[in-house]
Amino acid sequence: MAYTFPKDFLWGGATAANQFEGAYNVDGKGLSVQDVTPRGGVPAKPGDHNPLITDKPTADNLKLEGIDFYHRYKEDIALFAEMGFKVFRLSIAWSRIFPNGDELEPNEAGLQFYDKVFDELSKYGIEPLVTLSHYETPLHLARQYNGWANRDLISFYERYVSTVFTRYKDKVKYWLTFNEVNSVLHAPFMSGGIATPFEELSKQDLYQAVHHELVASALATKVGHEINPDFKIGCMVLAMPAYGMTSNPLDQLAVRQFENQNYLFSDIHARGKYPNYIKRFFKENDIEIQFAEGDEELLKHTVDFISFSYYMSVAAAHNPEAYNSGRGNIMGGISNPYLEASEWGWQIDPVGLRLVLNDFYDRYQLPLFIVENGLGAKDILVEGPNGPTVEDDYRIDYLQKHLVQVGEALQDGVELLGYTTWGPIDLVSASTAELSKRYGFIYVDRNDDGTGTLARYKKKSFNWYKEVIATNGESLYR
Ligand code: BG6
Repeated sequence: MAYTFPKDFLWGGATAANQFEGAYNVDGKGLSVQDVTPRGGVPAKPGDHNPLITDKPTADNLKLEGIDFYHRYKEDIALFAEMGFKVFRLSIAWSRIFPNGDELEPNEAGLQFYDKVFDELSKYGIEPLVTLSHYETPLHLARQYNGWANRDLISFYERYVSTVFTRYKDKVKYWLTFNEVNSVLHAPFMSGGIATPFEELSKQDLYQAVHHELVASALATKVGHEINPDFKIGCMVLAMPAYGMTSNPLDQLAVRQFENQNYLFSDIHARGKYPNYIKRFFKENDIEIQFAEGDEELLKHTVDFISFSYYMSVAAAHNPEAYNSGRGNIMGGISNPYLEASEWGWQIDPVGLRLVLNDFYDRYQLPLFIVENGLGAKDILVEGPNGPTVEDDYRIDYLQKHLVQVGEALQDGVELLGYTTWGPIDLVSASTAELSKRYGFIYVDRNDDGTGTLARYKKKSFNWYKEVIATNGESLYR
């Protein structure tokens, strides 16, 4: 049945600095972990060695130039405004502000860039939603300190977030502390700047790194609220519901265990303490988290809202070896025979989004924000009546089905601040570093071999999303 979304619903799109800004060494920017991972940041399967990491940037790394948002932000923001965006999610590249991560003074040129971007957004009445750390830890912090495995990162992060909170306190209201904070369990280098090869990283060190990030996130929430009490600061988790492969109770237990690995992060952000279920897991795995004085108190600074990415679901079983497993967004799981998959093997499940929304809301009664959702697909540029375009009905179909389920969840009573599609303009993929895995409403003429003019073209989905926003969701039901 037709449904209109809430009046102030924040429609928009989401990006990350390292995947679209380019200008990796311009205006004093230091290197980030992304600048040395030309093949993307995710091990092909659990237990694999870290992805290819080079000593220094190599020309085949598409992220170095990205789609050059750094120099084209005015043109791109004008296109977002044309679609009617109310919100635009972007990250601040930590290494633009503190090139090495451990300096005492910030890089003024880096700060000025984001001033210009926020001012441009404000011209159109677009609310920025800023991720403080989106898979782009300064490389020096990875090399010198082993990233978040080292407690020193907390104070470097505190200095960085205090700097940007203070600088932009009147320009930005919505903040996210860490992108997909739970992903560090699966991609420790990309997510946490942890240089120790994955297969050599002990569970003890991994969960201690998790603890450091959780404390840092709580600290950011505390400091942010002191700088501006009107700030809305959220956590951001990778949401991936699991279904039991059969009605065997042991499979349902496997579901619970799979989901607890993710809930751990939102539970601590929302409830301010470690849940009991993880204490058992720690005990059974000889993990003993070192709490420094004050950590327990800090964790009590809970978030204002829960945000998450949602692309897919998986299935779980007590005997996973009996089934086919599929690839996925950083982590994967058993393939679900009821679902189809994208060209990259991510299983498409709109109803799963309604379930996730209801689960999070029941669990925390905090406002939610969907800050990533979308279909990565190979697009073909064709000549249309108004110039080059892409007939991306498959993308429209994916988004339409997911948004209808968002409408269902809203009618179920879920409180939802907004929805930002991933990559409203084509950008470089995080997991595989390709440009041919496109999510955008706007096509960018750049290819996997680095060729292309960087020209922007509107796809068919551009006008479709514009209409969805203009009608506040009503057009989804036509
Ligand atoms: C999320 C990340 O995991 O998924 C984004 O937050 C990423 O950075 C997105 O781009 C889509 O993944 P991919 O690998 O298709 O780019």
